[in-house]
Amino acid sequence: MNKRKEIFLKDYTKPAFAIERVDLVFDLYEEYVIVTNTMECKKLDAKTDDLNLHARDLELESLHLNDLQLQESRYVVTEESLCVLNVPETFRIKIVNKIYPQNNTELEGLYKSGDIFCTQNEPEGFRSITPYLDRPDVMSVFTTTVIAEKEKYPVLLSNGNKTQCHEFFNDKGRHGVSWHDPHPKPSYLFALVAGNLGSISDEFTTASGNLVALNIYCDLGNESKCTHAMKSLKEAMLWDEEKYGREYDLDIYNIVAVDSFNMGAMENKGLNIFNSAYVLADEDTATDANFMGIQSVIAHEYFHNWTGNRITCRDWFQLTLKEGLTVFRDQSFSADLNSAAVQRIEDVKALRERQFVEHASPTAHPIQPKSYISMNNFYTATVYEKGAEVIRMMHTLLGEQNYRKATDLYFEHFDGQAVTTDDFVWAMSEASGIDLEPFKVWYHQSGTPKLHVHKNFAKGVFTLELTQEIPNAVNGAKQRAYFYPLKMALFAKDGKEILAKTLSISKMQETFLFENLAEEPILSINRDFSAPIIVQEEHVDFAFLMQYDTNSFTRYEASQNFALQTIESLIQGDAINEAFVKAYGYILDLDVDTSYKALLLELPSISTLMQRQKVIDFDVIYGAKEQLAQHLAVTYEAKLLALYRENHEPQSQHLDADAMGKRSLKNRVLRILAAKDSSVVQELAQKQYDTSVTMTDRVVALDVLENSASDYRKVAFEDFYAKYKEQTLVMNKYFSLLSASHREGVLQRVIQLQEDSAYDEKVPNLVRSLIGVFARNYKYFHAKDGSGYKFVAEKIIAIDKINPQMASGLAGAFKIYDKMNEENKVLLKKELECIISTQSLSKNVFEIIDKILN
Ligand code: PHE
Ligand code: ZN
Repeated sequence: MNKRKEIFLKDYTKPAFAIERVDLVFDLYEEYVIVTNTMECKKLDAKTDDLNLHARDLELESLHLNDLQLQESRYVVTEESLCVLNVPETFRIKIVNKIYPQNNTELEGLYKSGDIFCTQNEPEGFRSITPYLDRPDVMSVFTTTVIAEKEKYPVLLSNGNKTQCHEFFNDKGRHGVSWHDPHPKPSYLFALVAGNLGSISDEFTTASGNLVALNIYCDLGNESKCTHAMKSLKEAMLWDEEKYGREYDLDIYNIVAVDSFNMGAMENKGLNIFNSAYVLADEDTATDANFMGIQSVIAHEYFHNWTGNRITCRDWFQLTLKEGLTVFRDQSFSADLNSAAVQRIEDVKALRERQFVEHASPTAHPIQPKSYISMNNFYTATVYEKGAEVIRMMHTLLGEQNYRKATDLYFEHFDGQAVTTDDFVWAMSEASGIDLEPFKVWYHQSGTPKLHVHKNFAKGVFTLELTQEIPNAVNGAKQRAYFYPLKMALFAKDGKEILAKTLSISKMQETFLFENLAEEPILSINRDFSAPIIVQEEHVDFAFLMQYDTNSFTRYEASQNFALQTIESLIQGDAINEAFVKAYGYILDLDVDTSYKALLLELPSISTLMQRQKVIDFDVIYGAKEQLAQHLAVTYEAKLLALYRENHEPQSQHLDADAMGKRSLKNRVLRILAAKDSSVVQELAQKQYDTSVTMTDRVVALDVLENSASDYRKVAFEDFYAKYKEQTLVMNKYFSLLSASHREGVLQRVIQLQEDSAYDEKVPNLVRSLIGVFARNYKYFHAKDGSGYKFVAEKIIAIDKINPQMASGLAGAFKIYDKMNEENKVLLKKELECIISTQSLSKNVFEIIDKILN
């Protein structure tokens, strides 16, 4: 079944055949589906005799070559292939096979989400639908006919433009629709949907005047929750025309929301399929973060039409070619439409929380990995988010104008092709004249580089000595110095900016001199987070930068670093640094954008603190952070309460920057206040739950109540459950809140919640909300009796049998193994060994656990 074969980038060879056209017919029935696949093939490599197609668990009905039925001696079927022996130069091959989407719980290939037939083919799902050259460098023109029972499946969709509707005289209960996609594409972009769906429609006229029909499909009854997604789609289409000169290229753009989906969404040509969490929203059921998430994911998938679909990847090692670039594009889009400062900080926060952790773990890999066992395991924060940072650095090195010249060249030169990251870097270099050879290191090395900063001032000269520290690769190999842009500025003691520039760093050690200075300047470094590195700098005047830094990112960074330093000295057993407390009070009074202020007031996450410890002891870290939080809550209680009242507008449901900023700041303040569990805070939370009309406010209130001594907690949760138990997207929030709780007995409750009628172990969103969130509830996951590890390990083993991709996602929680204290390590090891010795473990989970153990 699941062969654990390691695939290497260095073994890449070109395809031996081209598939010039493919015609697919799907006959959908309740128990099975008949697929008829007719391909026109051409031999590319004269030395190859046999056509070796990818196929998974093939149930072949018939096989024809140029209209001749093939005898069994002419082909070989294995668990992973269909090999047709001795084929001519050009030929037509017709395969009829049978599949069972109703039994497909892996959610890869053709499957059912509730009553909806849908597909997920990236990276290698198509081969479980029908035999094919299922690799991204085989691009073909697809025609698809979907046939199903009319009443149950009135909506029949596939890629491209709709060409024909079919009625059947002999079988009036069934109907069919044909679709044709004129753009050659790899099989991973193929999609099909059939269901009884509701929809909303709109249209968009492209810059050159083409009218595009836009449709968003969902379960009946959810239509009104699609309007934000539609608005976001139109914003994205316009932005891509203005910023990148990219127009849409079909008459129709369809999006379908389904509840069972392994990832966020999928960019299938002309027919995106989405996790419903990234489509459906209204003010009553979605948080502000949900609305923002929808805007960015809708845009992300739309942007793939050029960066991914028109120009695709040669092989899966090039995944960051489309993902890093498309994440950079969606980040830029969100920055343009919302607050750029907040967007940048949120993106860096996410990078550090997920990607830095990955880079420091046994599963570390370069943004362009060198090998994989299961490609599904490489849809990672490194490939996506660090990949985006790598594109961003090129954008900084080139500047806006040259970058646009370079992307124009990239689109023009490689349109319709399957290319490599080298091809992209070539375009960047060719259009700008900048030699990017030394930059390519970013694609091939793993681990987060450090930069040690030494400062000196004498006789009017400020000396900046920068030393790179490059971590070894996972296999222990030494790695090379990086080339990157480093934005910096110098300030005078009175707060005036003396200079701001972008240094170009390329050597292990370099010195920069700044002359003719009247006094020792204050340094602001890695502004905008211009490179994804860890800066190590001593003697930093955090309070000064918090006050005067003109860069919103480094100003935020100063507040975070000051807090980190303060908490870390508490971990060492020192007293609270009152200078930090004073600086914090200064921020409370600052007159800045409310959403930015909310970020400045946030204390560093437990995960950030854990990353900086050599050996992790959760209780100690948590205790230190709590101590500081309580001290701040007590010291500034009056100010915080005033800030809360100023910004609390319980009746406002607006989604504009002002309203969202106020909610964000008000809720930040409530959380800080909650560190001191007073009756005042409990009452505020209770009232907020009862009177607020947004999900954002209610979720925060519930969270605060759950972790307080308030009795109202039970009432509020019961009320919430009664109201929303039918709405799976809201139930995700319900499960997450209970699973992330710090209250006694959380594990027991999580175990019980699995029996709740709203829970379903086959639906990834629900599993992530209940089990996935528990695995990040450090207090209980790392419990000293090993109960947390044992529970999660058992779930991984059980879920692996249902959906290996979901199971390997959960297994990520164990990546922390190496860094835990001895006591926890012993407990962890026992569970890891239990998982790896499980019978018929998937290659997905095997690959992750094997790396952690070795
Ligand atoms: N290609 C999708 C995206 O990033 C992600 C995805 C990968 C979805 C694999 C499903 C399966 O937009
Ligand atoms: Zn993507």
